Amino acid sequence: MAGVHRDTLLRWLRTNLIPEPDRDRHGWRYFNQEQADAVRAFASSSAEPGSPSIVRPAGLTSLDSIGWDFDGAKTSYLTHGIHPYPAKYIPQIPNALIQELSAVGDVVADIFCGSGTTLVEALTLKRHAVGIDANPLACLISKAKTGFISEQDASALLEIAIRARGMGEKLAGGSNGEDMSFKQEELFPSPTFVSQAWRPRNDALQFWFESFAIEELAECLSWCRTLDSESAETLALTAFSSIVVTVSRQDSDTRYVRREKQLTKGEVFRRFARALEQVTRSAVEFSELVEERFRCQILQADVLLKPAVELLDLVVCSPPYPNAFSYHLYHMTRMLWLGMDQPRFKKEEIGSHRKYSNPSKNRATADTFRTEFSAIMDWLGGRLKKGGYACFVVGDSTLKGERVNNADLIAEASRSAGFVEVRRIHRTLQTTKKSFNPVIGKIKEEKILILQNQEGALK
Ligand SMILES: C[S@@+](CC[C@H](N)C(=O)[O-])C[C@H]1O[C@@H](n2cnc3c(N)ncnc32)[C@H](O)[C@@H]1O
Repeated sequence: MAGVHRDTLLRWLRTNLIPEPDRDRHGWRYFNQEQADAVRAFASSSAEPGSPSIVRPAGLTSLDSIGWDFDGAKTSYLTHGIHPYPAKYIPQIPNALIQELSAVGDVVADIFCGSGTTLVEALTLKRHAVGIDANPLACLISKAKTGFISEQDASALLEIAIRARGMGEKLAGGSNGEDMSFKQEELFPSPTFVSQAWRPRNDALQFWFESFAIEELAECLSWCRTLDSESAETLALTAFSSIVVTVSRQDSDTRYVRREKQLTKGEVFRRFARALEQVTRSAVEFSELVEERFRCQILQADVLLKPAVELLDLVVCSPPYPNAFSYHLYHMTRMLWLGMDQPRFKKEEIGSHRKYSNPSKNRATADTFRTEFSAIMDWLGGRLKKGGYACFVVGDSTLKGERVNNADLIAEASRSAGFVEVRRIHRTLQTTKKSFNPVIGKIKEEKILILQNQEGALK
């Protein structure tokens, strides 16, 4: 309406040339008719005093006008919904923090990137992105969510989807309802069965999967592995991984117990076809929106080992915290199929429920977490530019029946590294969206802790 680019509008807002409008329930600025008319009038009056080259940040006060609960917000747009991930946060949180605390062209990092929510938002907001995670599966998903897809890649993926759907229908009896499930052996004539090589050699497979599901998964995996382009393979493997838990006997993404499910033959293929189509559609949408000049680096690393990264302008993350989740367990079956080093990640994982709840005398305590965070903040202090912000989205933990305030713990551990707390925002969670280990119960509230690096790397 105003005939100006979104970035210009944002610059005017930051420099107080036009007043801040309200926010809608998704956190987006919402200009009502009167406010929109005012912007239009400003744009046409050429009252802008030149083009200010330095953006004066409006300060943290703008954070107060945001309704951080984002109740009912749509959370699976672009590539956000292509793979489940325990405790992933809603994209509206990093989106708002990135908009308010960084500028176009800045480097935004998530040092516990998980499934890459922050990275997707940083790239769509024209920032460069850096993601770190010790979980190889997290890195695979993050790469898939932030990668660019070519037309050839999209065609290759959709071809596999067609093949998978056809296979699924044949095994299920086709559209005419004829029962052909007994013909599975004909479709996969052992021992020349092409996918033997892709099947993990592990007894755990028999425990977690029905035999026919193993055959079907192995076949799907062999198709992924023979794709020529790395980006297509990353997307195909992510689609593959997204269905593994649903076709296994693992109860759910955050429950590592065995349960029989009523899976029918061909279902793995059909689910894989659907996942591939969704992944491809989402990747195309993402690639159309994001400019390739904004780079995204994803490092598989343990942050306690102080990985080498470029200088950062902003950090936005939701860290692992005591007793919350055990990613190495929830992702076990997926990592098995994908040939990932699960035992190594198990050792590196911070906060895992297993480390905090085992009966041994040496089990981890709140002090373990404090010490780990001191080391992380020491390292981060040298990587984040002076004046830069580090934002942590955390809930409380319960350790041996006592509540632990993780935001306090992180704030304390950060002081000696030169960070000061500048804001603490309390937000209510939609409990259906994110649940804790059943022992601990559902979290209802979490905090967004904002620290500023006062001594860090020079700007
Ligand atoms: C709460 S999740 C992050 C979820 C992410 N915000 C998202 O939206 O998907 C915390 C992440 O910390 C990672 N993590 C745990 N210990 C780590 C370590 N030592 N180094 C790096 N990452 C680690 C876990 O693998 C997990 O992905």
